[in-house]
Amino acid sequence: MDARGGNRLKGLILSGGKGTRLRPLTHTSAKQLVPVANKPVLFYGLEAMSAAGIGDVGVIIAPETGGEIRAAAGDGSRFGVSIEYIEQEQPLGLAHAVLTGEPFLGDSPFVMYLGDNLLRDGIVDLVETFRTEKPDALILLTPVPDPEQYGVAELNGQGRVSRLIEKPKEPKTNLALVGVYMFTPAIFEAARSIKPSWRGELEITDAIQTLVDRGLRVDPHIVHGWWKDTGQVQDMLDANRLILDDVGERVEGELVESRVEGRVVIEPGARLERTTVRGPAIVGRGSQVRNAYIGPYTAIGDEVRIENAELEHSIVLSGSSIRDLEYRIEASLIGKDVRIGRGPPLPKAYRFVVGDHADVQIL
Ligand code: DAU
Repeated sequence: MDARGGNRLKGLILSGGKGTRLRPLTHTSAKQLVPVANKPVLFYGLEAMSAAGIGDVGVIIAPETGGEIRAAAGDGSRFGVSIEYIEQEQPLGLAHAVLTGEPFLGDSPFVMYLGDNLLRDGIVDLVETFRTEKPDALILLTPVPDPEQYGVAELNGQGRVSRLIEKPKEPKTNLALVGVYMFTPAIFEAARSIKPSWRGELEITDAIQTLVDRGLRVDPHIVHGWWKDTGQVQDMLDANRLILDDVGERVEGELVESRVEGRVVIEPGARLERTTVRGPAIVGRGSQVRNAYIGPYTAIGDEVRIENAELEHSIVLSGSSIRDLEYRIEASLIGKDVRIGRGPPLPKAYRFVVGDHADVQIL
């Protein structure tokens, strides 16, 4: 570390891309802003940077969703970091995003954090290991049941990284690359030397493989706490469950003939009437819940209205309204300003106004 701060560790959060797997929510919104336990996924990454003492963070944004991300995260001061937004014109891959960030990163070593990833134990230990061990790159690995969905690593007899393949059809190991990486500026040259993959992207996995091929030191670090890539609906629900598992009880809203059991957060301005909330669960600011049951692992956003309905293991984004349901809602992800309710009793028919790519299942 030099006294001028010339090569102080920086952060790069990737918050661009397309988010196609979370459609229809991401037709209009950035996937990194979908909330987990009522907080946008991206904010967990910014907090992790701050906790690791990284003050300068570049955030890669896409032209379509960048404005929304800027508005949500601002200048970073409330997370204790200073954010510089860097627009990537097209989502040409993670290594392309790194090259887009090069003018901001300069000759500093940096942590790259995928904006849709959640890492329970943060990055403090990792940054410490990187500082003391001084490898050319440090990658995080974790065993997963479905490695073909990720970058996959092979290690040699000495536990060093020998080979990395992006989403292999027949993975040789179950060690997935977690979306947090530590790099020295050697990664830029490697990223410039690779060609687009079968999915048309410059893969960071291939750039790291180039470092290995050039004889540079790439250290693996196995993650033991949980990790989630929130790219798909089931992953969002899992992440929501894992985060809610760690929340403490805090009831600041108003309870009228209502019960909360276990670790439940009721934010200020929320009002519960003849309702039971069984934690872990959270109800956001200004939400009105009446004659309802909110079951474990449910996150209700701000200004939501729920009446005569039961929900469990679900995420409801702000401004939505759910009423008069015959069956319990479960394992559902409900977007912003959605209305769910019953129509007139006759004729017996369903009536929908549902966006493109929506997924509606009825028994
Ligand atoms: O989550 C871990 C996985 O992340 C790794 O195991 C893979 O090796 C790695 O390639 C990556 O795979 P994904 O296919 O899940 O990456 P995704 O396209 O979802 O992009 C990750 C984040 O980076 C997401 O927040 C969007 C952002 N991004 C993506 C691209 C392609 C950008 O900012 N710019 C881009 O060009």
